[in-house]
Amino acid sequence: MRQMFVAGNWKMHGSKAEIKSLVTGLNALSSRAGNAKVAICPPALYVDYVSRSLSASNIELGVQNIAEEPVQGAYTGEISAEMVKDLGCQFVILGHSERRAIYKESDFEIANKVDTAIKAGLTPILCVGETLEEREAGELESVISTQINAVVEKVGINGFKKIVIAYEPVWAIGTGKTATSAQAQEVHAFIRGLLADYDTDIANGVIIQYGGSVKPANAKELFSQPDIDGGLIGGASLVAEDFMAICEAAGE
Ligand code: PGA
Repeated sequence: MRQMFVAGNWKMHGSKAEIKSLVTGLNALSSRAGNAKVAICPPALYVDYVSRSLSASNIELGVQNIAEEPVQGAYTGEISAEMVKDLGCQFVILGHSERRAIYKESDFEIANKVDTAIKAGLTPILCVGETLEEREAGELESVISTQINAVVEKVGINGFKKIVIAYEPVWAIGTGKTATSAQAQEVHAFIRGLLADYDTDIANGVIIQYGGSVKPANAKELFSQPDIDGGLIGGASLVAEDFMAICEAAGE
């Protein structure tokens, strides 16, 4: 049985005052998550601040990026996997479409970061997903396969025992357009099938979150699909009531 897992991706949002009020809300509502695993990924600069304010013992911490380089050194502006671990984080979001599109991160670089994260004892949340143009051109499966296979090539199929996957159709991120539960389920099943070609047990065990305009109103329907094991939540993770309502839908 896979545990449902909901993670909040705060992206580049927040100030000390806003975070204090958000975390106060999360602390108060955390029991609503029931059996679901919950993590929040604030901007790295605020991780320590969040961790000091967070009293809900069932909410874990993550970040939104790490350096590709495995050891610390002369990499101005970068944050290493070891530093993230040292600060008490367990998760790191990697390969998010915003990093792929805006910062031109390649499949190769993302695979290296996944490898670095695993070696540091972090759990990567590996994001994959197609653009609307790719979907309409019938390239959905080849895009997802290329993104996943680049990581298999680097860390091997066994690496997927330590990876969480997030399927995030790019056209659904921050747009208010959610994939229907049937559309999402179809791709989740495709991803699991892709991994099953390498190893059935690993494919059955891997958590695959859905991400892209998940809201309290659509979470339950999405999470009821057999291959959807929770969500990666952007906008709605900035509102304590909404985020915990989504966690509640996962934890039922
Ligand atoms: P959204 O973002 O929930 O605001 O669509 C999801 C994500 O980018 O992880």
